[in-house]
Amino acid sequence: MPARTNTRVLLAERPVNRRVQESDFRLEAAAMPEPGDGEVLLRTLWLSLDPYMRGRMSAARSYAKPVEIGEVMTGETVSEVVASRAPSLKPGDTVLARGGWQEYAALPAGEVERLEPQGMPLSYFLDVLGMPGQTAYCALLGVGQPKAGETVLISAASGAVGQVAGQIAKIKGCHVIGTAGAADKIAYVKETLGFDAAIDYKGKERDTLGAELAELAPKGIDVFFDNVGGVLHDAALANLALHGRVVIVGGISLYDHLETPDSGIRWNRQLLVKRARMEGFLVWDWRHQTQEFRRDVSQWLREGKIRYREDVAEGIAAAPRAFIGMLAGRNRGKQLVRVATPA
Ligand SMILES: NC(=O)c1ccc[n+]([C@@H]2O[C@H](COP(=O)([O-])OP(=O)(O)OC[C@H]3O[C@@H](n4cnc5c(N)ncnc54)[C@H](OP(=O)(O)O)[C@@H]3O)[C@@H](O)[C@H]2O)c1
Repeated sequence: MPARTNTRVLLAERPVNRRVQESDFRLEAAAMPEPGDGEVLLRTLWLSLDPYMRGRMSAARSYAKPVEIGEVMTGETVSEVVASRAPSLKPGDTVLARGGWQEYAALPAGEVERLEPQGMPLSYFLDVLGMPGQTAYCALLGVGQPKAGETVLISAASGAVGQVAGQIAKIKGCHVIGTAGAADKIAYVKETLGFDAAIDYKGKERDTLGAELAELAPKGIDVFFDNVGGVLHDAALANLALHGRVVIVGGISLYDHLETPDSGIRWNRQLLVKRARMEGFLVWDWRHQTQEFRRDVSQWLREGKIRYREDVAEGIAAAPRAFIGMLAGRNRGKQLVRVATPA
């Protein structure tokens, strides 16, 4: 009988100042990894595809080291323990891990978290109850600090993070505006998620976007949850309310050009005149709030106050195309790959 293999996706080439293409990845059938002492062998069930991975494909300096050429693409997974050489985990346990874009991974038991799903779908631990959901919760409540009656603007509103951020702002009694890049996404955030208003930003210049925002937020934007950067950022900054808060969560419009500095308007005077605050956010700095976040968001999910949409690609080989599609906005909700079903 042939030995079982581990299909995995490696970084083949760095996309520099251009869009990612499928040839930037290489699919490989590798030998099954062997768990060492204190390690577990994991079978990937779900793989999360996230915009930050575009940054890891670049050698530009960031908060984390890049994936090297020939290395397995990095990524969070929900995985099943198939063999254990650690007392804390046994075969059949389900864990949250950094398994990467591959079918199997051998990892130290101390680096994975055993999951107790408590009736929640396993995939949720990669999205609404995982890193994107925690980003929404902590960036909005911890940094943006919206108060009831305030106006909150969320860019990339229909995506993994944006969906949650907007609905939490609604729970907190805010007037919520979203931006997204397709008519059906606009309908989704307004009709299904309950946003008060939404703008399709595609093909629009800063001044047009600025004028639309001014109409929707006549008293200004109190909290701007910025996932996108670029012209949307400029349009929002022109419409800040007094004491506005700008949370820099992401800049996906810039991710294909990380090697060159972003140039745009200098907003110093606007920040001064509005006595506004702008702060960068990284979810890993907020690990101390993971339990609180999971408790609150689980509760809101159970009460039907938060709804969540996932976009599922099938099989590890589909990961590159799904990732490229997500960067281009073809995802409808959080982009995941179903790599295998539980044994
Ligand atoms: N700081 C942190 O700790 C942290 C953690 C997680 C995520 N993030 C950031 O949060 C942002 C959203 O991530 P996500 O996981 O929720 O992804 P997502 O929204 O599910 O997917 C990415 C979306 O970005 C939008 N997009 C792509 N190119 C764009 C462009 N040029 N201009 C405007 N929008 C564009 C597309 O939606 P449209 O159709 O609307 O264009 C696409 O669907 C990303 O910037 C990500 O890096 C930050």
